[in-house]
Amino acid sequence: MTGGEAEPVIRIDHDGPLEGEVRVPGAKNSVLKLMAATVLADGEFTLTNVPGIIDVDIMSQLLRSIGSTVESAGDGSLVIRHEGELSTEVSAELAGRLRASINLLGPLVARFGNIQIALPGGDDFGLRPIDMHISGLEAMGATCRFDAGILTVNAPRLRGADIRFSFPSVGATENLVSAAVFADGVTTIYGAAREPEVADLCNFLVAMGAQIEGIGESTLRITGVSRGGLHSASHRVVPDRIQAATYIASVAVAGGEVDMVDAQRNDMQMFLRRCSEMGLTFSDLDGGGLRVAASKRLAAVDVQTLPYPGVATDYKPLVIAMLSVADGSAVVTENLYPGRFKYVDELQALGAKIRMHEHHAEIRGVPRLQGASVTAHDIRAGAALVVAGLAADGITTISGVGHIDRGYDDLVGRLRDIGAGIRRD
Ligand code: UD1
Repeated sequence: MTGGEAEPVIRIDHDGPLEGEVRVPGAKNSVLKLMAATVLADGEFTLTNVPGIIDVDIMSQLLRSIGSTVESAGDGSLVIRHEGELSTEVSAELAGRLRASINLLGPLVARFGNIQIALPGGDDFGLRPIDMHISGLEAMGATCRFDAGILTVNAPRLRGADIRFSFPSVGATENLVSAAVFADGVTTIYGAAREPEVADLCNFLVAMGAQIEGIGESTLRITGVSRGGLHSASHRVVPDRIQAATYIASVAVAGGEVDMVDAQRNDMQMFLRRCSEMGLTFSDLDGGGLRVAASKRLAAVDVQTLPYPGVATDYKPLVIAMLSVADGSAVVTENLYPGRFKYVDELQALGAKIRMHEHHAEIRGVPRLQGASVTAHDIRAGAALVVAGLAADGITTISGVGHIDRGYDDLVGRLRDIGAGIRRD
């Protein structure tokens, strides 16, 4: 956007079912980590199924700022090249704009023995500490120091260690797996996160020559290879289960039947189970993907967020939007980020009946919401407002669209293609 241009808004004026086909793009929460992991080796990497989202642009800038070449090859591919030394001083400005900037920590320390990085930005949904990343690195022999918001880590050599997580942190698992690929000996992470995006990163590292056992399980065992022992690789980014869930939620509130090409049933089992209990039906598509159908008003069902394989916290705003128009009352409990309820005020402005009790939201469904002007404060909250707009009579106008663009590849265009009355002004 150039100076003087008005900020974009999304305008929704919708009635009636959604029909047709939508392709689910690659996952934001995987591609950013894959991009960071490329710094572990020299050579040319090709990532395919890369979503067209702002966070990929920011991570591309971050990589360029330390000396990588990053080019978009069109058709959703990204080509990344490294040759020799990279800078290990990460731009505070860029790091502050992207939570996943912290994913450079493990790879840069593993390969070059040090990093200086500002504490990460990203969505503002409460305290997001990185103590588990730090204590894991320290267990592997690194020294870590914080000074005025900057983290400095030094580790001329990392050694394998037994690391026990009290909570399966996605980011800490990813960083410590990446850190361990060149460590002396074996690193075992007990209580590791099992999210499909973590597995995607591990599979990429294995394609680069890393030795990792237990991928997708809660105990990961990484046997260090010699520094310089990894090579470049090509990889297709896992499809985005949260974007898939956004189309499911859209059909859930608008009705209809939509084919989601590339949606991965296995990656979203608990969420699909809750959706089935609410009355949605799912069937597998020939050639990969999932058909979702909604023929009646949703039934209210209690949901709580949990680490994978539980219902992800990232689905929760979508679930609350769905329950806002369900038949009956339900309680949604947030177990990961107690502060992640900011969008409730906005949903209330659209007529949703939601009462908060600490980290529980009690939602009493109404038949339809009412259009109004609302603001997206983070990616998933923005998506939930879009879903709510599809469930509302009259016009819903959403500002703060930049948040949605951080994680959604043409959400408006994809919804319009399946018949939604939505546009971007
Ligand atoms: C990732 C996702 C985010 C998702 C979250 C949980 C990315 C870029 N973001 O975030 O969309 O909502 O997983 O599925 O992939 N914690 C600590 N200490 C730590 C690390 C985490 O206490 O060192 C706590 C956090 O405060 C939070 C919980 O653990 O309560 C989950 O955090 P984590 O799994 O690490 O999430 P992220 O990797 O930040």
